[in-house]
Amino acid sequence: MSDTKFIDGFLAGQVAFITGGGSGINLGIAKNMAAAGAKVAICGRTFSKLEAAAEEIREFGGEVFPVSADVRDQEAMEKALAETETALGKVNIVVAGAAGNFMCEIKDMTYNGFKTVVDIDLMGSFNTAKAAYAQLKETKGSILFISAGQSLDAHSHQAHVCAAKAGVDKLMKTLAVEWGPDGIRANSIIPGPIDGTEGMKRLTTPETLPMLINAVPARRLGAVDDIGRAAVFLASEFASYITGVVLPVDGGLTLGGSGMFNFAAQQFGSGQKARK
Ligand code: COA
Repeated sequence: MSDTKFIDGFLAGQVAFITGGGSGINLGIAKNMAAAGAKVAICGRTFSKLEAAAEEIREFGGEVFPVSADVRDQEAMEKALAETETALGKVNIVVAGAAGNFMCEIKDMTYNGFKTVVDIDLMGSFNTAKAAYAQLKETKGSILFISAGQSLDAHSHQAHVCAAKAGVDKLMKTLAVEWGPDGIRANSIIPGPIDGTEGMKRLTTPETLPMLINAVPARRLGAVDDIGRAAVFLASEFASYITGVVLPVDGGLTLGGSGMFNFAAQQFGSGQKARK
């Protein structure tokens, strides 16, 4: 956890529930929220992994409750939210971060392979939101979905994630509309390529990584804290009028719709003489 002076006390007195909180981006969000003063519940499938993550949060004085559940299991999610309320109090902040991915072309993807990712990413987000609704309504809290660039653009070998994350963002916007009158906000973050994460391990090779970094206008990988701080902001009072928003935190990567032209122009120039 790096310097916390900008987020100290931002979320004092709040309770956050974070799925996929045992590792990677979601653990980074949990750490930033804990550092900002929130009590955090981290939810994932494997309790031993959650316990190890919880220890990292306790080390810097954060209050943490590890609770195991599979986001695909609606009853398990309801139980996890109920246990969180007993342990920490009603949730003000929910982060639907649990996700699954593997690279596979559509022609080779099995029906169950497609369904598995849609179940984790999209159904899991729905199950999390549904299970948290009653508590969020009471606290007038907010829900944050961890989306992906696959929601916006087609990505080869990731039809399952593209379909699921596009669904997640549409779900988020519909929740913002339906739950806005209850005082609940809903937003998404699209993380760029974040250093050291499981996603980066699955989606890049030593050959493709430099090409990917070159496609990021900021010319660097993101850090877990880049996402954690954006999440703290969106969950905080500073964002109290922000809802229904998909926020890329990606060094500009999602601007790359014209990526091939940008790359060619930056490498080889425009091919035209500048007018004097
Ligand atoms: N290529 C092709 N198909 C694959 C695959 C791969 N690399 N990995 C899994 N599948 C298929 C399986 O063959 C199976 O389909 P089948 O029954 O038709 O054979 C289906 O996907 C489910 O696989 P299974 O391993 O039983 O699912 P799981 O629920 O245990 O795990 C995954 C879910 C596959 C998404 C797993 O990678 C995971 O748990 N990921 C979590 C972490 C993660 O992905 N993080 C990155 C987020 S960006």
